[in-house]
Amino acid sequence: MSKPTVHGASAASAATAKSDIVVVPLFTNEDLSTSASEVNVAAGDVLQRAINIGDADAKLGKITTMVGSGNIARIMSVGCGDRASFNLEAQLSVTGAVSRALASSKAKNAIVVGDPIADDKDALAQFLEFLGRDMAMACYHYTATLGTPKPGPTFSKLTVAVDGISTAKAKQSLSVGATIGNGANLTRELVNLPGNVCTPSYLAKEGRALGRKYDKVSVSVLDEKKMASMGMGSLLSVGNGSDEPSKLIVMKYEGGPAKQAPYCLVGKGITFDTGGISLKPAKGMESMKFDMGGAGSVFGVMQTVAELGLKINVIGVVAAAENMPSGCATKPGDVVTSMSGKTIEILNTDAEGRLVLCDALTYVERFKPEEVVDIATLTGAIIVSLGHEASGLFANDDGLAESLTAAGLASGDEAWRLPINKRYDRQLNSKYADMQNIGTGTAGSITAACFLARFAEKYKWAHLDVAGTAFQSMQKGATGRPVPLLVEYLRQKAS
Ligand code: BES
Ligand code: MN
Ligand code: ZN
Repeated sequence: MSKPTVHGASAASAATAKSDIVVVPLFTNEDLSTSASEVNVAAGDVLQRAINIGDADAKLGKITTMVGSGNIARIMSVGCGDRASFNLEAQLSVTGAVSRALASSKAKNAIVVGDPIADDKDALAQFLEFLGRDMAMACYHYTATLGTPKPGPTFSKLTVAVDGISTAKAKQSLSVGATIGNGANLTRELVNLPGNVCTPSYLAKEGRALGRKYDKVSVSVLDEKKMASMGMGSLLSVGNGSDEPSKLIVMKYEGGPAKQAPYCLVGKGITFDTGGISLKPAKGMESMKFDMGGAGSVFGVMQTVAELGLKINVIGVVAAAENMPSGCATKPGDVVTSMSGKTIEILNTDAEGRLVLCDALTYVERFKPEEVVDIATLTGAIIVSLGHEASGLFANDDGLAESLTAAGLASGDEAWRLPINKRYDRQLNSKYADMQNIGTGTAGSITAACFLARFAEKYKWAHLDVAGTAFQSMQKGATGRPVPLLVEYLRQKAS
């Protein structure tokens, strides 16, 4: 995983320093900024000529690359659209387009002309954070299980040339962004790994590694024997058919005062979901290696908060199991007893995410959390509702729902709230247990959230259904979502 280094420099240096590529933002109906004109002149007027003949323009996200001259090997222009509508979403189109273009170019280093972006220091810092994040993410390249790794991006050094903020501040903003991007890349790597590599034990090892790497992170792993002694009959029922032992991974980050209530993140870590006895169809089943996307995001967030040194306490809990059919597997109609004491009739063994999460949600009561957010690739139905654009958001507290919605918008990692209430919840009533694990077939994402809500009555809780957002397809792989949203949420809490 290559991580580009980030630097700040004076605006004038873009025209004089030696670089593989200089990136120049263009706005509709605006002349080149002073430093952009200097770059243009130093590179033999190529940018102005490209604009004159219509090759380069300010259309939002449009990338035009031209050969330069002298110290400037290439110029890349990026369209930023109208100044008046250069909002957060437009910024993200620009940082995304530039990052992808740089990562797939031959350039190893780039200087971005920063001062056309904004006069406002905060807007500029915000843009640089996005740029640092998107650049780190564009450089991610999966090779873990390739015998002969395919070559990936070779880009390694990003400099922003700007006078509006100090070079130190520019570097810091880029660097915070890159830290978030690296956190999301850790998530992507874990989520992309195949099920035979990334098992519950592998995730436990990953957790312990984070504990060794960061002073403020301590990790404990509960094995099946321990979970049985605590009464986690629901979580354990999911792994019954698997030879891979289930694990509950608990990662504590202490960045705030010891007495301060922690924020808890609980991740669904089904390292492979065959559906169990309620077996899934063969077609597309391989994508169920992504069913630990929620867990993956918890690892990415823990790494990021530790790197950023956020001054709050965060506890990440990962409920890890493999859902397999076998002679020992849970059968439809079986009744299990959860740690809360509530009994569950398992009518469909493919609705397993909620079964591991409910015991993890009961487990975190002991931390007297400020707020709890679970993250899970929980239902196919959420893809019907929201596609691959927004994560599904459910909450028993309006304030928490609002802070997560806001964090999603601010980070370009959107979540959209759906309802949970008694009318939906009653689908879960059962004749043979306190509840059943599936509803009657309508509003599947909502009834899944209602199931979880029954185990989260003792604290403020939200649930993110990331089945549509944690990964796109086998080919495109893991996205690293919702790491940006969660990190933004925790940064808000820390500030
Ligand atoms: N892991 C799946 C949900 C899923 C589907 C994630 C597609 C990513 C992409 C989950 O365990 C599952 O199988 N859910 C069932 C629930 C049903 C049995 C009530 C579903 O969505 O069909
Ligand atoms: Mn399932
Ligand atoms: Zn699943």
